[in-house]
Amino acid sequence: MKKQQTGQSMDRVDGRLKVTGGAKYFADHQLPELLYAALVCSSISNGTIKSINTTKALRAPGVQDVISHLNAPPVPGYKNSDPNAKDGLKIFKDNRIYSNGQPVAIVLANTMERAVHAASLVEVQYNQETHYTDMNANMGKAFQNNRMKDYTRGEADAWKKAPVTIDATYSLPLEVHNPMELAGIIAHWDTPDTLVLYAKTQGVKNVQDTIKRLFQIPEQNITVHSQFVGGGFGMALRVWPLEIATIVAAKKVRKPVKLVITRDQMFTLVGYRPNAVQRLSLGATADGKLTGITHEAVAVTSPYEDFTEGIVSMSKFMYACPNVTTRYKLVPLNISTPIWMRGPGEATGAFALESAIDELSYKLNIDPLELRVLNHADTDPEKDLPFSSKYLKEAYQLGAEKIGWSNRKAAPRSMQEDGMLVGYGMSSGTFGAFRGKATVSATLKADGSLILQSAAADIGPGTATAMVQIAADVTGIAPAKIKFMLGESAYPFAPQQGGSSTVSTLGSAVTDACKALQQKLAGLAISHVPAFKNAAPETIIFEDGQLLRAGQSEKISYETILQQQQLPEVNVVATSQSGEERKKYSMYSFSVHFTKVHVHPATGVVRIKHIVSVADAGTIVNAKTARSQMIGGVVGGIGMALTEEAVMDHRFGRFVNNNYADYHVPVNADTPPTDVYFINKKDPYINPMGSKGMGEIALIGFAAAVSNAVYHATGKRVRDLPITPDKVL
Ligand code: MOS
Repeated sequence: MKKQQTGQSMDRVDGRLKVTGGAKYFADHQLPELLYAALVCSSISNGTIKSINTTKALRAPGVQDVISHLNAPPVPGYKNSDPNAKDGLKIFKDNRIYSNGQPVAIVLANTMERAVHAASLVEVQYNQETHYTDMNANMGKAFQNNRMKDYTRGEADAWKKAPVTIDATYSLPLEVHNPMELAGIIAHWDTPDTLVLYAKTQGVKNVQDTIKRLFQIPEQNITVHSQFVGGGFGMALRVWPLEIATIVAAKKVRKPVKLVITRDQMFTLVGYRPNAVQRLSLGATADGKLTGITHEAVAVTSPYEDFTEGIVSMSKFMYACPNVTTRYKLVPLNISTPIWMRGPGEATGAFALESAIDELSYKLNIDPLELRVLNHADTDPEKDLPFSSKYLKEAYQLGAEKIGWSNRKAAPRSMQEDGMLVGYGMSSGTFGAFRGKATVSATLKADGSLILQSAAADIGPGTATAMVQIAADVTGIAPAKIKFMLGESAYPFAPQQGGSSTVSTLGSAVTDACKALQQKLAGLAISHVPAFKNAAPETIIFEDGQLLRAGQSEKISYETILQQQQLPEVNVVATSQSGEERKKYSMYSFSVHFTKVHVHPATGVVRIKHIVSVADAGTIVNAKTARSQMIGGVVGGIGMALTEEAVMDHRFGRFVNNNYADYHVPVNADTPPTDVYFINKKDPYINPMGSKGMGEIALIGFAAAVSNAVYHATGKRVRDLPITPDKVL
């Protein structure tokens, strides 16, 4: 038998293209007669546009047009004022301004520099109204959205009656995604009702579907190309007003238009992780059994959309606790709409829950790891179902061993090293292990190569590589002869790359397509190959890219069947989705993060010295890309814990640190040795590979692991992220 590919550290199939500049990202595409766009964005945060004077801009060299609500072709599919309509901001529909940075016009010119310059010449006058951007000052506006109702299991707010309690408020600032690749799009109307797009997206089919709805043209008239994406983290999970503005502009001028937004515009045009305030209350018996959890969250949204996410979800099922209450509200502010950002909801919630558990451990004088094991949920207490697989206890044990948890002295501020205060902290993370519906086309060529196609995305994790490994194991074809193609709307349907679900969803469809291909080859052999004539299909065995017959010695390779029949290729298309298992089991991935920190006793500077992260993510398909994925999530977690915060000046409703210099994402110097371990045990129910998701759990919980370590080092509990030196002192 050939070497199993799943689990190997196979190099990325597109790695060479990516590091040599051969990979074409959306903005790399050039079209004849291409115009460049620049946005003019609102300088006020609430009000209406009084006038737009474009005279100077239109006179500037190379300028083709300036488009605003005054002259834009209408978007026929915009619905009226339903905040849950998913239209987003209805760009250029009227003169209403909801937030600072909202695009009010798009300028087109024959070079990017000319477009940017002309945009600075557009004169906009406003009727300014009072704006509201400060969440804490506007808590009175909080309301409940129907999608996220209050939850009670057992007795409401039972924590209040417990002998030992924790009741604390945790806050998280607004965080932005800011992948290196900026957002934008190239839009080209081939004819008045056929549109070609080069997009930055986590799902070409989602773009196609949104455009179909908004512009009311048939799906087959919309082509979306997005083969390479320079990072997403959730910001490319929807079509944004900046993209609609470009499409509208291209429609008006009947030429292809390219927009690439600026770094500062990334803070206002492509969503963000909403700032949130959470009250977490725990009740426990004196020997450490949780008797009540109440988790209340308030997060921000825009005036025109209700964005909700699972901030309080984890508290419902993470621990075996009979009484759980969650409440979740939104505060609409004069800012743009949030969007999912890596570990959406759970990352915010886990900071509160896992910090509070840590606080409780000190109050009870029980080791924080032991307290978690003591309250481990063996079955899902929310859904009242068994978990499809859960190896969290093993992950706790492995992580503790690798970080040297046994060296940790229990008392806060009791350890020192090189003049630094030393702290150890840990936290758990979890996220739903999903599986959606996807279709894969598999074509075997007469030369024995296999081409797989699906309209999936790869925002970085290495999707095509993992799919090649899965296909190699099912078919026995060597990875070098398999090609997985994605990022084209013309390919069969795949959902967006999000929610840590791609390997699960797409890998299942790849498996099914490869199996269907084998059955088709078996059918050909039974009909045409003498040694296989009239064989019962179930007696045919597939091994190493060949067909065998049980108990007989004849073999025939896949390509020989095609060659003998003079077939250039054989194609199958297979669709795959979850079965009944999903109703019988609760499916989650789990992680545990351990950190060791140094805190400078005089300055309060926190340096993370060592990280151990362990994931229970089912079968690991590619050990190398999986490790990278985990490290990437951890780096995001370091930012969340220590540095990331979009700071707004509420007098103007504007961000003051909207650039890479002032909005601190971790750099190499902030990132210590990170040891990643996988339990790597198959989930028996989720999908044929047994793989659960990993992208989200890589980050979820991490900030609490740092905050808990800082407390252990210093005795100072920081409940307000990021943990900057001023808060530690
Ligand atoms: Mo992600 S927030 O699942 O792109």
